[in-house]
Amino acid sequence: MAELAESLRSELDRYSVGGKLPSSRALVEHYRVSPVTVSRALAQLAAEGLVVTRPGAGVYRARPRTHAPAAGDTSWQEVALSAEGAGDVVPRSVDATGVLSSLAAPPPGVIELNGGYLHPSLQPERAMAAALARAGRRPGAWGRPPVEGLPELRDWFAREIGGTVVAADVLVTAGGQSALATALRALAPPGAPVLVESPTYPGLLALARASGCRPVPVPVDGEGVRPELLAAAFEATGARVFVCQPLFQNPTGTVLAPGRRAEVLRIARAAGAFVVEDDYARSLAHEDAGPLPATLAAEDADGVVVHVRSLTKATSPSLRVGALAARGPVVDRLRAIQVVDSFFVPRPLQEAALELVGAPAWPRHLRTVAAELRHRRDVLAGALRRELPMLELPHLPCGGYQLWVRPARAGDDADFVAAALRAGVAVTPGRPYFCAEPPGPHVRLSFAGVSGPGELVEAARRLGAGPFPEANPAPDGPPTP
Ligand SMILES: Cc1ncc(COP(=O)(O)O)c(C=O)c1O
Repeated sequence: MAELAESLRSELDRYSVGGKLPSSRALVEHYRVSPVTVSRALAQLAAEGLVVTRPGAGVYRARPRTHAPAAGDTSWQEVALSAEGAGDVVPRSVDATGVLSSLAAPPPGVIELNGGYLHPSLQPERAMAAALARAGRRPGAWGRPPVEGLPELRDWFAREIGGTVVAADVLVTAGGQSALATALRALAPPGAPVLVESPTYPGLLALARASGCRPVPVPVDGEGVRPELLAAAFEATGARVFVCQPLFQNPTGTVLAPGRRAEVLRIARAAGAFVVEDDYARSLAHEDAGPLPATLAAEDADGVVVHVRSLTKATSPSLRVGALAARGPVVDRLRAIQVVDSFFVPRPLQEAALELVGAPAWPRHLRTVAAELRHRRDVLAGALRRELPMLELPHLPCGGYQLWVRPARAGDDADFVAAALRAGVAVTPGRPYFCAEPPGPHVRLSFAGVSGPGELVEAARRLGAGPFPEANPAPDGPPTP
């Protein structure tokens, strides 16, 4: 493969920029190598930014990076990456409770509305098993992968992320959590403020605190983060990072409004700061979501966005394969941190991920998930309105797997969660989603981790009939089966 890549590299000058290379079949015949060798060599060149692959159309000589019109000017990153200015030392606090609540198995008989992943019946179990078996038989499957990840997988992620992102901008990671950890460590020194949406994913808050950073909340409304508050937070803190989920934000389910997207990038750029785009739910769009907005990374010319993607949410929490994508000097920093922390993502898992996303079953699986999540969302929302009319449900999301609800009467969300558990339903308290005082009690109800819509109806029935603090005072007692 390396030999073929070298030959192709040395012959690239024969093609004009944007010119089409011979088809894979022609290369197989000309060089007398296997189709796999050709596809790997081309992926290698794509990872080096020398060619661009367009599925169904062919492979083209890439525009040299220095002349790429959308590459923009990333020299501001030198300042951002060296600006220590962290101020006070923030005590490190390592608290996994917010993360464990969505990973722990609930007690027997309890319906799990607190899961963060698809129920096994919704996971592509057969396709994953087949992919793993095929991956294990690939030549070199147990060898060392390139530390940045397999070129073909980086190329696949680059195409998924879109815009002018190319394989060379992508680093394969062990899922989204590890990508976020690498990004935070790369961009925020200990003691530094990190702007986060409020509310946001507790795993992010836990990561920031565990690396000695100071998460600073920027409120989100029905249209995503509020730009004027973002600008004020940058000014007040001198932060160099903002972590954002523009699509189906966890927990609110909101989508960053079209008019705010460019503004967020502009504000961050003006502050000399990075935007970490956690695109965790792109493959969890519901059937009725309509066309999805592009990633922020696809619209970013100046290397502002560090994009995070993961395969786990649409597959299984154990398919821990994800990606970081960025441009400019920050890429070297991200790569160095990942190598120091964990060397690389196990090759068999990367090979299996590649097999899976290339299998005919993959698009079918995504369609099934989109239809099922929409159905479950409607079933749960309908059942809650019937059984718990006092719950406020301000936003019905078109993607993701959760409803973010407000108990109507003031009270602690911990009371609500405890009462729900006594009624036989595990739900997630809202408090860990806020890094400062919350504007009121909230609860997150997830509809992905149950076996089917029947369990959602039953969960709402238990919550409605159960010892609910706002319906009647909660008697102590064992969980209802
Ligand atoms: C918003 C968000 N980002 C990232 C993650 C990390 O997921 P994973 O590491 O499985 O990709 C999660 C998991 O719950 C999440 O909710």
